[in-house]
Amino acid sequence: MTAAACLVAVALSAQSDEGTVCYNVIPAPQAVAPVQGATFDVRAGMAVVYPKGNEKMRRNAEFLTAYLKEQSGIELVPVKGKSAQAAVTLSLGLDNPNPDAYMISVNGDGIVIQGASESGVFYGIQTLRKAVPVAATGTIYFPRVLIADQPRFAYRGGMLDTSRHFFSVDFVKKYIDLLALHHINNFHWHLTDDQGWRFEVKAYPELTAKGAKRTETVIGRNTRKFDGTPYGEGCYFTQEQCKEIVAYAAERYINVVPEIDMPGHMLAALSVFPHLGCTGGPYEVGRQWGVFDDVLCAGNPATLEFIRTVLGELIKVFPSHYIHVGGDECPKVRWKACAKCQAKAQELGFVAGEHSVEDQLQSYVIREAEKFLNANGRDMIGWDETLEGGLAPNATVMSWRGFSGGVEAARQHHSVIMTPTSHCYFDYYQAWNTENEPLAIGGYLPVGKVYELEPVPSSLTDKEKEYIIGAQCNLWTEYITSPSQAEYMLLPRMAAISEVQWTQPDRKNYEDFRARMPRLMKLYERLGYNYSRHIFDK
Ligand code: ACM
Ligand code: ZN
Repeated sequence: MTAAACLVAVALSAQSDEGTVCYNVIPAPQAVAPVQGATFDVRAGMAVVYPKGNEKMRRNAEFLTAYLKEQSGIELVPVKGKSAQAAVTLSLGLDNPNPDAYMISVNGDGIVIQGASESGVFYGIQTLRKAVPVAATGTIYFPRVLIADQPRFAYRGGMLDTSRHFFSVDFVKKYIDLLALHHINNFHWHLTDDQGWRFEVKAYPELTAKGAKRTETVIGRNTRKFDGTPYGEGCYFTQEQCKEIVAYAAERYINVVPEIDMPGHMLAALSVFPHLGCTGGPYEVGRQWGVFDDVLCAGNPATLEFIRTVLGELIKVFPSHYIHVGGDECPKVRWKACAKCQAKAQELGFVAGEHSVEDQLQSYVIREAEKFLNANGRDMIGWDETLEGGLAPNATVMSWRGFSGGVEAARQHHSVIMTPTSHCYFDYYQAWNTENEPLAIGGYLPVGKVYELEPVPSSLTDKEKEYIIGAQCNLWTEYITSPSQAEYMLLPRMAAISEVQWTQPDRKNYEDFRARMPRLMKLYERLGYNYSRHIFDK
């Protein structure tokens, strides 16, 4: 059924719109087949059955009961094993190699959500939840249906920058809830940057004691006027809080990919440890935005020791297979003039050729970080600049400066996550007329443009295309100072990226997506999220 067909079905049915389910959700499932027959009707007190002895499935049942109560007021009861009163049965064993695959079947006997794994069941629950109307009702009427669904991409990411502006543990959890609602399974957490170090490192308590705080913040877009107000003191995540967030995300089948951005974007660390910079400082935590010339010295052995110590603590807190080491926007001016950097380049036999000596130094630092991660059973992700001096052997590339970095990496048989500024930077304006918009970094990225993203470039061969493992949206927060502004920038563009990440291209249709949006917006409202309505601009 299309969105329009759904409304017609409601109009023709005996029940009111209030309680009738519509399966036209976002992201669109791969196959939705209506089945003839009367609706299956769900009322308070009926059971959500889950298999005995499976903690994850118990939690899945609790999620579903909580969602239905939140949306319709109807309270179901999680029951393990069997129930004569079953409204929904959650089960495993779907024969599909994709762990996130699920089927939903609604017939006269009830609703079954069967997953290839617990995560598949969870995505079935998210789909069912979005199909249920957001309205108080005594009965929910489920039209009979067979839904068969699985994601297009294995990596479906959303990034949040908590350095430029700090966001609380509660908001990070709210952000994770949003990812779950949109079937996104990787939370890329940007933890450190020039303007504030926000990850507790027990070996270096100064990093958060001093490096989290800037003396003031520039007003507007680097106007040279400053607000005179200290920002960020005490604003960091303890390792315990990080673990709490990892556990919260894991319950929602979301992996947390932490990022320590290096060797550039390191002013906050340099302000604490000036000996790690080429000039020796003094340095201060960034007070304005952009790219700074002062970066970690590539020729100082203490730099590598620092990196290994920080990454060593990071991997104890974050179980993620992928660890992000940044690698973006690292100017080379200091390295060119630094005796230590130049001596290191000589020692390593670097000569200018395909890559400059300094680009090779950048690769050297990143490869050392990768070596450490690989030795500890992890793999590295870097922004596409990590291609410049030669890619580290097992690196995954996040292509942000367009698609070409991703194309090059795929040709070199490296995994790629597409996140080009043109489609994925949610810090850009979403309205053409910016007069009434909150100040943003610039750009113009309306929902429709996000929706247009095709992460797999047609210039790649079929074999190379397999290296594109997913896509990601990014929320950089230089200009985003509050949770409500963050939500406004995320929604509903996150809905558009979710359909890019999840749904096969032949199932995508922007007009239909727009028609499905108001239902999801009702849910945003119920959940208390601030969202933009520019998708309906004429
Ligand atoms: C980036 O936007 N600097 C990755
Ligand atoms: Zn140096």
